[in-house]
Amino acid sequence: MQELQGKVAVITGGASGIGRAVAEAAAAAGMKLVLADIEEAVLKETEAAFTASGADVLSVVTDVSVGASVEDLRDKATSRFGTVHLIHNNAGVAVGGPLWTVSEADWNWVMGVNLWGVIHGIRAFVPLFLEQGEGHVVNTASLAGLTSPGLLGPYNVTKHSVVTMSETLYRDLAVFGSSVGVSVLCPGFVRTGIADSDRNRPDWAPAPNMPEGVEFQGVVRNLVASGIQPAEVAARVIDAVRNNRFYVITHPDTFAMVETRLRDILAERNPSDAPIG
Ligand SMILES: NC(=O)c1ccc[n+]([C@@H]2O[C@H](COP(=O)([O-])OP(=O)(O)OC[C@H]3O[C@@H](n4cnc5c(N)ncnc54)[C@H](O)[C@@H]3O)[C@@H](O)[C@H]2O)c1
Repeated sequence: MQELQGKVAVITGGASGIGRAVAEAAAAAGMKLVLADIEEAVLKETEAAFTASGADVLSVVTDVSVGASVEDLRDKATSRFGTVHLIHNNAGVAVGGPLWTVSEADWNWVMGVNLWGVIHGIRAFVPLFLEQGEGHVVNTASLAGLTSPGLLGPYNVTKHSVVTMSETLYRDLAVFGSSVGVSVLCPGFVRTGIADSDRNRPDWAPAPNMPEGVEFQGVVRNLVASGIQPAEVAARVIDAVRNNRFYVITHPDTFAMVETRLRDILAERNPSDAPIG
């Protein structure tokens, strides 16, 4: 979709981090914005900031893990702007812990946001794109969708799922001869609020996933803080939409890690040591 001027972008997780940066880049390219997020106060502040800077923006409080909420997002977007051209299924959360300790509630939470959020986004928006013969889907996966870092089981499972779902969507669209575009975003660490995903954890008593003595959140927080700026990721996303590029790999060290994993598989040897991330 080379020409973005006047087109409509819906971005989930649009109130923070990567989503907000993509919204900024999309607005700079002349797109109208629909920002979806579960954090109402931050979402309204973000909408006000975009409006003040001259963008044409609508915000919709959305829980991407609920299909009806994503359908409501689509309906509000189309009734305000007439149609949608870009859906960026980007909202995501992470919890840490060895696989045998992660609570069922945390599994359901991460699967709900990271996996079902993308499924709901595809089901709600792709039929619209097919009908109008134009559109682009961006799904945010992660380096954790191409490798399997330790202590991030539910996150890895959802992000590998998002990669294969995106690859399958690409092929499904090809079967129908559609020109609707697909991209899968696989970043390494980016300076965002992801290490504090707990702020959106549903209202249950969190189970102590991490065994005593294992410092995890601090390690992840430092890795995230050492990451690249969200604006760098956003520029790559907009470029991928314009040029219909599928894999969006933002960190050069990713290639070596993916290659190591593939070589392990091809040589049928045990997984090589991989640090967290
Ligand atoms: N930051 C990184 O290092 C990194 C690396 C790879 C992939 N990612 C992915 O990037 C995406 C964006 O995360 P980020 O890093 O910008 O973090 P972030 O925490 O800054 O932003 C995530 C946004 O998603 C929203 N959200 C959470 N649950 C939601 C729900 N149920 N419905 C709607 N919105 C919800 C949050 O309120 C927040 O605004 C995620 O999918 C994440 O997994 C991040």
